[in-house]
Amino acid sequence: MNFENILVTSENGIGQITINRPSKLNALNVATIQELHTAFENLDADAETKVIIITGEGEKAFVAGADISEFAHFTVEEGAQLAQQGQELLFDFVENLRTPVIAAVNGFALGGGLELAMACHFRVASDNAKMGLPEVSLGVIPGYGGTQRLPQLVGKGRAMEMIMTAGMIDAETAKTYGLVNHVVPQTELLEFVKGIASKIMRNSPVAIGQAIKAVNANFKDGVDGYKTEIKSFGKCFGTEDFKEGTTAFLEKRKASFSGK
Ligand code: COA
Repeated sequence: MNFENILVTSENGIGQITINRPSKLNALNVATIQELHTAFENLDADAETKVIIITGEGEKAFVAGADISEFAHFTVEEGAQLAQQGQELLFDFVENLRTPVIAAVNGFALGGGLELAMACHFRVASDNAKMGLPEVSLGVIPGYGGTQRLPQLVGKGRAMEMIMTAGMIDAETAKTYGLVNHVVPQTELLEFVKGIASKIMRNSPVAIGQAIKAVNANFKDGVDGYKTEIKSFGKCFGTEDFKEGTTAFLEKRKASFSGK
């Protein structure tokens, strides 16, 4: 499928989505959000794709935010609709995919860019990355889940400070905060993330999908995470992957998972 604002490849079980608007520091306009939705949906439905990596084109930015030029003249209703549609189409959608999604944060991840990275299942940053939620400097607040996911990841006090100051933190600080798991030189970022992906790919895709669901349940209002875990745990016993994983262990061989 051809996209205007993103590049999508799939090789050796790894799907890679690259946001490709470098002249605008990969800012997320509505068209890009729609394309990202389609690309994530397609890769998640493809049984060959075991892990998805998202990154930004160029050396400067992952994503420098929502496209400010698009919403500068919006009304109250249009603003609320922008946030709602974006959350549904992209941010909540990515968080709830059964395929693991890793953000390779290769530069500025600001506003909607950091929100996109935070919606991914985890993050790795290049050493030049800078992260922040600068929305209050524009007279608005984060609208793509930032006020919810940042405190989940870094704690309420740090999130409040980052949001109120509209400041940026560097990659090492983000690692100290638990916002990113690893910091690596920019030239090594994609290889490093692919290395993590290959470790994930040795394991059962069905079990990983259920694990994502159970972990996410901890952060959903009105959902009992422990009950979700019990249900997901039970479901695994009905899968081919479970039979293969346990049989392979007992037969002292490597498991070969079908993902069913
Ligand atoms: N929306 C729309 N366009 C954006 C953008 C955004 N969020 N972020 C950057 N761009 C555009 C700039 O307008 C500029 O376009 P132009 O060359 O047509 O004028 C281009 O990307 C390059 O950005 P520029 O600001 O010239 O780069 P810089 O190196 O001087 O600064 C940043 C980099 C990231 C500090 C700066 O671009 C910035 O503050 N961006 C906005 C960040 C933000 O507030 N995001 C939250 C949005 S809710």
